[in-house]
Amino acid sequence: MTAARLRVHVDQEKCQGHNRCYSLAPELFDVDDYGISSAVGDGLVPPELEENARRAVANCPEYAITVAEVEQ
Ligand code: F3S
Repeated sequence: MTAARLRVHVDQEKCQGHNRCYSLAPELFDVDDYGISSAVGDGLVPPELEENARRAVANCPEYAITVAEVEQ
């Protein structure tokens, strides 16, 4: 049986280092020395953190974060 999981992605061209994503979901996002965010690991979101992932998408002022459903 397959289950859909979410994968987060940060567009680093759009990211301006507001760091709201990291504040909301430090398990899912990493920031570099310039404050630019990237997804942790392969970006796959554990089911219990899906709400946090969606919250990060909604709170990025630059619309730099997207989530996509991937089949497992
Ligand atoms: Fe960048 Fe948006 Fe996070 S601007 S640091 S992806 S809140």
